[in-house]
Amino acid sequence: EDPSSLPPRPPVVTIMGHVDHGKTTLLDYLRKSSVAASEHGGITQHIGAFSVKLSGGKQITFLDTPGHAAFLTMRQRGANVTDVVILVVAADDSVKPQTIEALKHARAAKVPIIVAINKVDKESARIDLVKSDLANNGVEIEDFGGDVQVVCVSGKTGQGMGDLEESILSLSEILDLRAEQDGMAEGWVLESSVKSIGRAATVLVKRGTLRKGDYLVAGKVFAKIRVLRSEAGVEIDEAPPGTPVEILGWRDLPDAGDQVLQAPDEDKARNAIEYRIELSERGEAVAQMA
Ligand code: GTP
Ligand code: NA
Ligand code: MG
Repeated sequence: EDPSSLPPRPPVVTIMGHVDHGKTTLLDYLRKSSVAASEHGGITQHIGAFSVKLSGGKQITFLDTPGHAAFLTMRQRGANVTDVVILVVAADDSVKPQTIEALKHARAAKVPIIVAINKVDKESARIDLVKSDLANNGVEIEDFGGDVQVVCVSGKTGQGMGDLEESILSLSEILDLRAEQDGMAEGWVLESSVKSIGRAATVLVKRGTLRKGDYLVAGKVFAKIRVLRSEAGVEIDEAPPGTPVEILGWRDLPDAGDQVLQAPDEDKARNAIEYRIELSERGEAVAQMA
């Protein structure tokens, strides 16, 4: 199938950077300015991922814990859930060890980055120093003829945040992100926990559309979707590609980093799980013999 004929999907963006450079503050700002958040009175629950609907109707999905064990697991399994990395660098602290670490991750995953120089509201901000430090660490920023966009922002005052959203959208347009909306769905577990309402897993849908009543297999765990909830805690009917969604209805708790596959019916889902259990038992037996 010609990929360019598939429907567009929202970009999935991961925020990375050194400790205290303002990742959470930036995300909180984006979340609050989101149309979805204001629609639901701004009451959001933490599910490790959220989507921002911009006033123009476009959507951006943000993943908020890059240190997440799930990311490493998913990458080891060959899945790049992230389309864009926002590298946050505090203007008063410049490039630090975890900035360089984040750069390495983005490069290893071959994910394009946008630099957000944060805390530009501070008097101690040294924007030019940050830019030259970035260049000295091999980041080919626009200012010096490269193609990495740099946006100056303040998560505190909101300065430059519109520009950051614009940069993400324009990069996404270039990336031309598309996904199948029909057919058997596929996704990844970002996090999972047992809540008062039952076993819950936040799943990022990669392709296809998840709906209530669908059968899923994640690792060796079966689910029949009982409830789908948005990050705002609101029940939704369906989750299209690029959307993070909380799913209830698991027979057991799946692990962060597990791939989620939809099965056409209950029998096929259960057979897939039996087969996986058998394979892993055989694998263990082989490992014991060795
Ligand atoms: P970790 O998750 O611990 O790595 O930190 P973080 O990168 O999420 O940073 P966080 O958002 O917690 O911000 C760290 C501190 O910087 C907090 O005290 C914020 O209030 C402050 N801060 C964040 N952004 C800005 C900004 O744009 N301007 C100013 N002046 N302070 C900021
Ligand atoms: Na912090
Ligand atoms: Mg934080």
